[in-house]
Amino acid sequence: MRDQVSVLFTEEQIARRVAELGEEITRAYGGREICVLGLMKGSLVFMSDLIRRIPLDLTVHLVRVTSQREQAAGRILTEIVYSTSVPLEGKDVLLVADIVDTGITLSYLLAHIHEHGPASLRVCALVDKPEARKIDVHPDWTAFPVHEPLADRFLVGYGLDWMERFRGLPFIGTIPRPAPR
Ligand code: IMP
Ligand code: MG
Repeated sequence: MRDQVSVLFTEEQIARRVAELGEEITRAYGGREICVLGLMKGSLVFMSDLIRRIPLDLTVHLVRVTSQREQAAGRILTEIVYSTSVPLEGKDVLLVADIVDTGITLSYLLAHIHEHGPASLRVCALVDKPEARKIDVHPDWTAFPVHEPLADRFLVGYGLDWMERFRGLPFIGTIPRPAPR
């Protein structure tokens, strides 16, 4: 299956971009401790590289949003599961997301995190597809914005999956957009 993947961003491009983002994020927090919250599972590889480029005191947590697709009504998001009970109140929270596509997952999650009363809440996304947005939400940092017509292809690798496959590829690649599940 790997031979169907075309390389979009190489390992070297990703490493350079992650280092740049690490510096920007570090500067933005001015020495404060941060709480990094990774959106499972797609952001695992990105987050593990990114936190090593942020020389601040930080804690790491994971969150998962389960979703269900419905035929006509679009998608209904059902559940948010945190890895451990995360004390977000009063914390500077950095949510690390894999792909912001329609924005539904991110906006739903942000609303829930806000209920915990963090001191601040910012988002760093690996990939942003701004033209696919159904809900207006913007990451504070994006490693790679992907625009039309490329946004029509399905991205895999570096943590991103298609049906749980391809997460281990060291680069970000594309496969032809699969039929809707
Ligand atoms: P949204 O709620 O439509 O913004 O979708 C976000 C989620 O859909 C991401 O967290 C990804 O897991 C998944 N997703 C969207 N587009 C892609 C893609 O091109 N490749 C892999 N996963 C994707
Ligand atoms: Mg997925």
